[in-house]
This record gives sequence, structure tokens and C-alpha cells, in this order.
Amino acid sequence: MAHSRATGTGRGSLGIDLHLAVDAGGGVGSGVGRSIESALREAVASGRLPAGTRLPGTRSLADDLGLARGTVVEAYAQLTAEGYLVTATGAGTWVAETRRPAANLVAGTPATAGTARRIIDLRPGRPDLSLFPVAVWAASVKRSLAAAPHASLDYSDPAGLPELRKAIAAYVSRTRGVRADASAVVITSGFTHGLAMVSRALHGAGVRMIATEDPGLPHHRRLIHGAGLATSPLTVGPQGADPAGLVADAGAVLLTPSHQHPRGVVLDPALRTVFVDWANDRDGFVIEDDYDGEFRYDKQPVGALQALAPDRVVFAGSTSKALAPGLRIGWLVLPEPLRIPVLDAIADTGATVGAPDQLALADLVDRGDYDRHVRRARQSYQKRRAELAERVATLTDVPFDGVPAGLHALLPLASPQEEKRIVEDALAAGLRLIGLHGAGYWHSPTRGGGGVVIGYATPPPHLWRSALDTLAEVLDGADFARWR
Ligand SMILES: Cc1ncc(COP(=O)(O)O)c(C=O)c1O
Repeated sequence: MAHSRATGTGRGSLGIDLHLAVDAGGGVGSGVGRSIESALREAVASGRLPAGTRLPGTRSLADDLGLARGTVVEAYAQLTAEGYLVTATGAGTWVAETRRPAANLVAGTPATAGTARRIIDLRPGRPDLSLFPVAVWAASVKRSLAAAPHASLDYSDPAGLPELRKAIAAYVSRTRGVRADASAVVITSGFTHGLAMVSRALHGAGVRMIATEDPGLPHHRRLIHGAGLATSPLTVGPQGADPAGLVADAGAVLLTPSHQHPRGVVLDPALRTVFVDWANDRDGFVIEDDYDGEFRYDKQPVGALQALAPDRVVFAGSTSKALAPGLRIGWLVLPEPLRIPVLDAIADTGATVGAPDQLALADLVDRGDYDRHVRRARQSYQKRRAELAERVATLTDVPFDGVPAGLHALLPLASPQEEKRIVEDALAAGLRLIGLHGAGYWHSPTRGGGGVVIGYATPPPHLWRSALDTLAEVLDGADFARWR
């Protein structure tokens, strides 16, 4: 076995560490030649060297392994002929795109040897990542880091950096009507983190149950359970979550009032008041998950519920839909009684967002680039949603549930069995879809209608047409249902 510390030759220094299990001794065509070859083949085939990885120059690798250069040249040539590597004269050698078995074509898809088939992802929850404003973000990172005091790079306040807290307070006040100043804002690693921290804080305050929407994201229920609390279901109808289901033991309620996930309905104004009154009467809390509040296509989005009762409502936002989930940045606007407990929870778990990203986001928001990006993304998703609705209308007169908003649409189906069939047919046709039952949206697996939740923002632009065509084929003849 040999370790090669490849320092790179040719255009630019590579400086990559390459671990290869190579048997010693011999020259070109000998055992060691074949050994390098098979070690590299194994590294590519297993995915340890991903597609696009640039390999060290032959001289450099030969030097590091103490071999004749010709031995390495031979090995590279053989693997290039087999399609594992690509070589451009004078430019270098890379791991090829195609030879390796498909790994993770879609997040969460296990790699299976020999199945390098394209799967288009129509699961909800993701924006079109190709829209991410790379140059603008990079400029914000550079500008904000250059201007920031060195202290910004110290262990951070669990509430986040003051620059970002101030920017978010201004942003959510301006765009979502939230009543907030910077002191109420806590930066989180996305909504998921925020919910986990609020749940911990509520548990510390004696709350043992949170009411959640049914259907609703199973992951959020699991987070709540993980903090030691139970959940109880609230039926979601065309008017949104039904407060009649609030049980006496619930000390808080988790809602998606401006665009219920997954039904897409908006919480009725009268019901907003009922939830707020409930929280006021029992010193309880409403957690307002405003995950896609920036994306409404037919009219202005409804303002935040938080504005009705800033002392009782936790407002939670995220960059996951507007920019990219990989940023892992969100925010909470906290009622006064929850501020210290939530900060303690964050401090206890040691998880804060990296300072350079916080600074960059503050810069992006302050300069108006965040708004500009959201506007651009909104136009793109609005168009996609209209195209999707138009296509589905050729197959059924059952409309999408809910209002035109967000990044997903729920298409109700006649039964859980029909849902399962459609999800399976879609996968066979190259589309990843999720179903309400299959994905665990219902509190009780035995109740609730079938349906698929279509995340229309996710495919990159060049795959959108093909996603629409395939979806239309899969849904042709499906047994749709109209929900109440
Ligand atoms: C209902 C709902 N809330 C919140 C989020 C955002 O979570 P996070 O900010 O942790 O990415 C999502 C993302 O898919 C969501 O669907």
C-alpha cells in the first residue's frame, strides 16, 4: 500500500492527497502497473474519486509512489480507454462523468450499479438551485468580510450576528408585516433547527404537547417528539387548520398560515383570530412557519399572523425556498418570554450559523439583492405553476388544492392505493414524486385521502419540459378526487 501526496504538475498545482493501495515492485505491464490500474479503477467505481476529480500528473504520481513514469502513463491510458478517466492533451486527466455507477442522481437515492438513468426530482421543498445568484453571493461574501470587524469571526452570540439580526428585522417587517426589532430576532440553521430549539425551550417551560396540522410534515412532528413533547392533530380543511381540534393539554400550536403545507390553503382570517385568542387565554404560543411566504402568485401574500400578537406568536422564516436549503440559514422572531430559553437551547447544542454566511446574507438583504432574487425566482415559479396547472387541466377537472403560491402543489387522488400506484409509475418513468401517505404526512397512517405533492420548482430549467411531459403521461387516466 502506498500513499501518494500528489503535488501536481502541468497547469497549476493540484495539491490533492491521493490514497492508493498499490503493491510494490515492477514496471510497465508488471504487477505494480496493474495494481495502480486496479487501485484507481476501484477508487473511481466506488465513488471515492468522484466524477470531475482532477488526477495528479503522471510524473508527480510516479515520483510519489517511487515508480517509473511510464507505469503511471500506462495505467492512465488503460483507464482512459475503459472510460473511467478523460485526458486532454496538455491540460490533465480527470475522472470521467459517465463510467461510474450513478451515485445520488437525486438526493436520497441510493446508488445502484449499472442504473445511471436520469431521475427528475419533483419532490416538494426545494427551489431551482440553478437560480442561486452565485456571483452576487460571492460579492457579498467578499465585501462583507472585508468590512467586518475581526470580532465577527469569534465564537458568536447564540442569537446571531447583529448585522444579520438587524437586516432580518427590517426585511420581515417590510415584506411580511412582522412586528420585530433586531433584539427579537434569532438566527437559526433553518426552520428545522429553529423548531427544535423552540420545542426544547417550550419543554423547559413545562409544555408537553404541541398541536400540529394534519396533514403536515412528519419531520416536524419528529423534531417535536425529539424534544420530549407529544403532538396532537388539527384537521386541515379549505379554511386551513381547524382550531376545534385543540386539546386541553396543548401548550402551543405549529401552523403554516399563509400557505399550508402540503394542502396549500390559506388560514381563514377568522380562524387566525381564534388561534391568537387561544394562545392569549392560556399563555400558550403559536409557531408560525412562514417557509414560503414570499411566493404568492395571484395576489399579495397575506401578512404574518405574528403581527396580531407578537407576545404569543413565534414567527419563523428561512432562506431554504428563497435562496437554497444548503445555506442552512433561517430566523425566529421570538416573543419576549421565549428569548432566553431559546438562546440557552442554542448555546447548549453549540449550533450557530457560520459568521461569513451571516455577514454575506446581511449584505445581500441590505443591498436589496435578496429582494431582487426573490422577484426573479417568483416569476420563474409562477410560470411553472401555470404551465403545470394547464397541463393537469387537460387530464382532469380536479384542481390543485389551495391557492397559487409556494413551490409545490397538491394533487388529490382517489385513494392511498392510487397514490402509491402513481408514485411507483412516476419513478419507473424517471420522476421522483412523493405521496401524502407514502411520505407520512397524515398523523394516522389509516386516515386521510391520497394525493401527490408536486415540487415544481426543483428541476433545473433544461429538465422542466421533460418533467411536465412525463408527469402528464403518468397522470393520464389517474383516479383524481375532489377534497373538501
Ligand atoms: C413546511 C416547511 N417548513 C419549513 C421548511 C424549511 O425548513 P428549513 O429552513 O429547515 O430548510 C420547509 C422546507 O421544505 C417546509 O416544507
